[in-house]
Amino acid sequence: MTVHFIGAGPGAADLITLRGRDLIAACPVCLYAGSLVPPALLTHCPPGARIVNTAPLSLDQIIADIAAAHEAGHDVARLHSGDLSIWSAMGEQLRRLRALQIPVNVVPGVPSFAAAAAALEVELTLPGLAQSVVLTRTPGRASSMPETERLAAFAATGATLAIHLSIHALETVRAELIPHYGADCPAAIVFRASWPDQRVIRGTLGSLEAGDIDRTALILVGRALAAEGFDDSRLYAADYDRRYRPVGDEPRFPE
Ligand SMILES: C[S@@+](CC[C@H](N)C(=O)[O-])C[C@H]1O[C@@H](n2cnc3c(N)ncnc32)[C@H](O)[C@@H]1O
Repeated sequence: MTVHFIGAGPGAADLITLRGRDLIAACPVCLYAGSLVPPALLTHCPPGARIVNTAPLSLDQIIADIAAAHEAGHDVARLHSGDLSIWSAMGEQLRRLRALQIPVNVVPGVPSFAAAAAALEVELTLPGLAQSVVLTRTPGRASSMPETERLAAFAATGATLAIHLSIHALETVRAELIPHYGADCPAAIVFRASWPDQRVIRGTLGSLEAGDIDRTALILVGRALAAEGFDDSRLYAADYDRRYRPVGDEPRFPE
């Protein structure tokens, strides 16, 4: 018996990996985080599967449910939105399951920041402008922030920021970032990226407004969001000698 933690993707039912889909189809038990996991994914569950929305459950109740499936020898598909490596609460479940010696398997998913960048049709890392993306958030009711992880500290690097769980704090975010990026720095809000009701708001740090959007949105900030005059990367430069495209009489990587 194994608990398969599966990244369910950002919302569109077809933005799950084939591996994740096939595991859902193979598990007689499916626990899903109902607040963000698209219900259409549950159609992959096999007939007769026990399907549990964990949104109203406590951690103890979730672990008890999994432990019961373990006793019965039933594999479990455990679905969380996006990818599991960020803000999935997988860590605390893994810790409990390891203590109970219940085997686990982790299947990555498409994170919402990638779906938001796709909605904006942008590359978040552009030569000479930004070569790092910071996935971050502001403090919330359930989670404080480590003292060193201030928006201003990340902003000092000029990296592209993908700010999660913070649309309610947009004014604070703008106020903290404007001194570093400038009020004219491109910024965007992507609400429910990849869902049928996806919305995109583009603007600048000085102008960005959320309107009626108060959840399930990402704030993206950085010069890369609306850049035109950046350099081409060296990767495809005609004179760039590389393993897959040797150039000149004495290539660096001879075949
Ligand atoms: C609990 S976190 C989950 C993050 C998820 N594990 C991931 O990989 O993106 C929820 C936050 O992620 C962002 N988010 C999740 N899905 C989103 C989507 N489809 N569009 C925009 N933001 C989304 C929002 O900032 C939301 O408040």
